[in-house]
Amino acid sequence: MFSWFQELLKRGQTAKSAPVVDLAEIRRSFEDAASDEEHFPSTIDPRIYHVQLIARYFGDLNGKRVLDAGCGKGRFGRVLHEQNPQAKIVSLDLALAMLRHAGPPLLPCCGTLTQYPFRDASFDCVYATESLEHAVDIESAIAELCRVLKPGGKLVIIDKNADHWGRFDTPHWERWFRPAELEQLLRRHCKEASSEFISYWEDVPPDGLFVAWKAIR
Ligand SMILES: C[S@@+](CC[C@H](N)C(=O)[O-])C[C@H]1O[C@@H](n2cnc3c(N)ncnc32)[C@H](O)[C@@H]1O
Repeated sequence: MFSWFQELLKRGQTAKSAPVVDLAEIRRSFEDAASDEEHFPSTIDPRIYHVQLIARYFGDLNGKRVLDAGCGKGRFGRVLHEQNPQAKIVSLDLALAMLRHAGPPLLPCCGTLTQYPFRDASFDCVYATESLEHAVDIESAIAELCRVLKPGGKLVIIDKNADHWGRFDTPHWERWFRPAELEQLLRRHCKEASSEFISYWEDVPPDGLFVAWKAIR
């Protein structure tokens, strides 16, 4: 078989069409995954650079509205809320079993990354950590992340680099991204967009797996 076609098949795509994916299948998978605390933890060490980057880029969140898109068990939101007790952090996820862990002080909301039940420009800051990779319709998901952001509002996406594809087993709908690919999509909606490689610890040089995209609407 041609190697380019094997590569496409590995990514769960056919040559000319987007992957055929059932949102109910993705949801079921994450409803089940919620009981797997090892791979889908409900806490995160606040010293981990992924958290630090978001906290530093957003700055003081007290009195601000923040959206955690694809929040899982709300581990990032809880840390941000501890640091900013007056922040209103809406935690959106597809899977109810994940959201059960994301209760008060977080504001849980069941929904999908490609169509939020929120008005335009209703958040000061929005972030998505390792959730965009599951959104399937990536252009719509980026458009939604930006739509709900106020002009001048800040966005962070943390996800994996397509150049490292194959490093882990992944479900057939998952996608990783090249830094320039998401920057280009973000620039359709935002006045500024940039990306950087990050690692879990600030003093450990990034190996290129994780990328943080930052944007200002
Ligand atoms: C790998 S987990 C990451 C969770 C969380 N952001 C974190 O870093 O702990 C991916 C999350 O995205 C959610 N998700 C997947 N597809 C989604 C969609 N279309 N809409 C909303 N959430 C989705 C899953 O239910 C899951 O909780």
